[in-house]
Amino acid sequence: MVILVTGANGQLGNEMRLISKDSTDKYIFTDVNQVEGLETTYLDITDLDAIRKMVAEHKVDTIVNCAAWTNVDGAEDSEKYVLVEKLNATAPENLAIAMKEVDGWLIQISTDYVFGKEPYNTPCKEDQQGTPTGVYGATKLLGEQKIIATGCKYMILRTAWLYSEFGKNFVKTMLNLTATKPHLKVVFDQTGTPTYAWDLAKAIVAALKNPVKGIYHYSNEGVCSWYDFTKMIAEYAGHTECDIQPCHSDEFPSPVKRPAYSVLDKTKIKEIFGIKVPYWTDSLRQCIAHLQNK
Ligand SMILES: NC(=O)c1ccc[n+]([C@@H]2O[C@H](COP(=O)([O-])OP(=O)(O)OC[C@H]3O[C@@H](n4cnc5c(N)ncnc54)[C@H](OP(=O)(O)O)[C@@H]3O)[C@@H](O)[C@H]2O)c1
Repeated sequence: MVILVTGANGQLGNEMRLISKDSTDKYIFTDVNQVEGLETTYLDITDLDAIRKMVAEHKVDTIVNCAAWTNVDGAEDSEKYVLVEKLNATAPENLAIAMKEVDGWLIQISTDYVFGKEPYNTPCKEDQQGTPTGVYGATKLLGEQKIIATGCKYMILRTAWLYSEFGKNFVKTMLNLTATKPHLKVVFDQTGTPTYAWDLAKAIVAALKNPVKGIYHYSNEGVCSWYDFTKMIAEYAGHTECDIQPCHSDEFPSPVKRPAYSVLDKTKIKEIFGIKVPYWTDSLRQCIAHLQNK
């Protein structure tokens, strides 16, 4: 396979770089930015002609799209809407068109935030109707629909609460705050599941061995609130001095109402690809150990 990874300098993209080292497939890592020490080919996924050119030049037969507008609060800025929609909806459609033209596979990463407006209390299934609460989730859902409409071969993997050693994320923020603040309040009225991007990268590679068209859910196993997540981050990091207390979402003014419950049901991906999903605290412990050994 010739696998083109977009957004290769983001959290998941970096994990795809690591996992590719054990592969016999050819990988091409692309992004719109350059990072010292990372070989990156420039590709803006909002540019369909540029995608077509790269696909033809390298005989790409698979695209893993790790690029997206991922700033959930920032997506609510009405002046940014055109840009957010272009990146989260039109760009995935571009990738789908390019893969349809060569009969290749598009792996699109989507989000648990396509759900959330309904008061769910059981894990969301793949065929459940999307009910996003904000622009980020709505544009990601539109991206899924645009991909499907092209008729290309696709696997859409919805994931949640992504973190890794790379880039900016909740784990790194909380590692810093629990080390430096005596008190911290964290919301306990939003329930989901964290996902270690390394585990997701492994799931992507496993699914690519025998791809089956469809939508899938992938996060780590288990369920927690952001408060529980923070408590475990502090515990594994040994930051015992910080007093962490639960609070309600309305104590933190935010431009977007986030889902109260967006746990993903992973039965389908486990059954179809035989994937074993690590429990969220086991993966968190592993990531923190890696960060502390850096
Ligand atoms: N982060 C989460 O908590 C989370 C949760 C659920 C699902 N997801 C989904 O998981 C996927 C990976 O997320 P992530 O956290 O790894 O993302 P990330 O760290 O924000 O990385 C995204 C990368 O895409 C690049 N990019 C921006 N515009 C681009 C363009 N026009 N063409 C090509 N690349 C472009 C970004 O560059 P710049 O930094 O220069 O803009 C960045 O390097 C995304 O689809 C996201 O929606 C994420």
